[in-house]
Amino acid sequence: MCGIIGYTGPLEARKLLLDGLAGLEYRGYDSAGIAYFDQDSQIRLVKTVGKVAALREMVGGGREELSHCGIGHTRWATHGGVTNANAHPHRFGSVTLIHNGIIENYHQLTEEFCLEGRLMSQTDSEVAAGVLDAMYQACGRDPLAAIRDFTKKLSGSYGFCILFEDRPGEIYAVRRVSPLVAAYTHSGSLVASDLTALIAYTRKYFVVPEDAIVRLTPYKVRVYDMDFNRVEPEYMEVNWNMDAAMKNGFPHFMLKEIHEQPEALKNTILPRVSRGIPDFTEDHIPDHLFETANRIQIIACGTAMHAGMVARALMEPLLRIPVTVSIASEFRYEEPLIDKNTLVIVISQSGETIDTLAAMSLAQSRKAPVLAIVNVKGSTIARESDYVLYTHAGPEIAVASTKAYSVQLAALYMVCCRMALVRGKYTEEQAQEFLKELLDAIPAMEAMIGKKDAIKALVTHLINQHDTFFIGRGLDYAFSLEGALKLKEISYIHAEAYAAGELKHGTIALISDRVPVIAIATQEHIFAKTVSNVREVKARGAFVILLAKESAQVEEYIADAQVRIPDIADAFTVFPIAVVLQLIAYYASVGKNLDVDQPRNLAKSVTVE
Ligand code: M6R
Repeated sequence: MCGIIGYTGPLEARKLLLDGLAGLEYRGYDSAGIAYFDQDSQIRLVKTVGKVAALREMVGGGREELSHCGIGHTRWATHGGVTNANAHPHRFGSVTLIHNGIIENYHQLTEEFCLEGRLMSQTDSEVAAGVLDAMYQACGRDPLAAIRDFTKKLSGSYGFCILFEDRPGEIYAVRRVSPLVAAYTHSGSLVASDLTALIAYTRKYFVVPEDAIVRLTPYKVRVYDMDFNRVEPEYMEVNWNMDAAMKNGFPHFMLKEIHEQPEALKNTILPRVSRGIPDFTEDHIPDHLFETANRIQIIACGTAMHAGMVARALMEPLLRIPVTVSIASEFRYEEPLIDKNTLVIVISQSGETIDTLAAMSLAQSRKAPVLAIVNVKGSTIARESDYVLYTHAGPEIAVASTKAYSVQLAALYMVCCRMALVRGKYTEEQAQEFLKELLDAIPAMEAMIGKKDAIKALVTHLINQHDTFFIGRGLDYAFSLEGALKLKEISYIHAEAYAAGELKHGTIALISDRVPVIAIATQEHIFAKTVSNVREVKARGAFVILLAKESAQVEEYIADAQVRIPDIADAFTVFPIAVVLQLIAYYASVGKNLDVDQPRNLAKSVTVE
């Protein structure tokens, strides 16, 4: 979950590292640090608790010197608290390194290499530095041999960038599971935990292969397997530009990303339409994958899992096969009833979420074919799944997922439509109508973005409260799960999503005039039922905000405030509703003066268990 960058080349390394870290900060922001070779080829270390801005100030305060090679890190604490000592880089003997991931056997390694009492921090990463230093000395200071022997000792996940004190100008990188990308550019050689740090210098990059060692010098980037044979990396091209990773005049990435949703939806849907029907030929996803499945298992975490919940509510009644949604961190330790006839759909924005990845491997070990819906090109889940359907949201920088959610939904809706067609549940005309209705959701989203000031005004009723409820039935309940998560994650207001009909079975005891309720009622066949539940909470004093379609008939006094969405088909209301829910969370966070894009304790991509 940490941000990693390494650079060697003609440019001033410290500035480049700090700029790169600022772009990577969304991966973790407890502390930050850099290590670089100074003009005398000595390694210098600067690190601090806090954000990259604090680190920049410290570096700026140092004596004037030039550096052309260094590594930088932003941390999301796993082992050891948020302290200067625990911040990366870590130096041990001849080795200075930064690390993303978790070394699970660090205890045994501490004993085996007699590191007790010799460590400055409580981190597994410093233990790794100690082990690597021992290997380096043992093999006559040969970096490749030392790294090979070092990785044999480790269990867990890692992405390392390493400096050896007697190798100025060189950076070594190695990874298992944790992501690393690298590139050789006209401005030197770079390695990073993700593309946002490279995009200012190059569009061509490669994903560092697992169990390979990368050596970066100012003039080249070389990849070696563990027998030290040269490996030709597979270069890929970035399909978005620098602008996509900037705020472009918006006060926060989250607001920018909310605004980007209509475009992201078009980019995800339109290239996959042929004769008005979803078509995955270009994605190499064959129809037989959809024809043969006798059940669907969806696996994901967080927001991506909520997209799966919406898809389940849509797919099961339409396809008439069982559709189960599992939280990846649960699924991976279960004994799932899946086999070659189960279509497993994993959903992940980053494509690096460790639980989703592990759950996917479990599904594959049971011979189930896996279709991954992923946003980040070349990510681990995308590479290791059997089929991949890329969403085209561009980089999502805010920790709170917004545009990734709506494009995941769009992809799932298209899969559902194609499945219905190939399984004879839809005629071509019905599939065309479905796709048309999906596209109609785009202007509906735009309409809700246009109502952001009205939504902002409503949020004043939430920001001084400690608890809220989001209620709905059927699809609306699935939407409320995401609404509650969004509000909790960035405004720190406790929010509970509840099936509206379930409130009476105990939970309604919590409703009072200090607990606002956001009621979602966009599904015609259960509209009246949800409205009855709204009456019940209103009768207990709750301040109710009702989200319903424009044409829905309801007495004015039913709710204290209402947000109306355009009249689109029931199955597609998630798209405008998602915008409303995102804006509620966004303005609640802004209203409380919080760090919208980097909420406390979180990080963008969860690469540890
Ligand atoms: O990268 P992924 O889609 O696999 O991430 C899954 C969750 O960690 C993620 O959706 C998380 O819940 C969001 N930050 C919520 O806004």
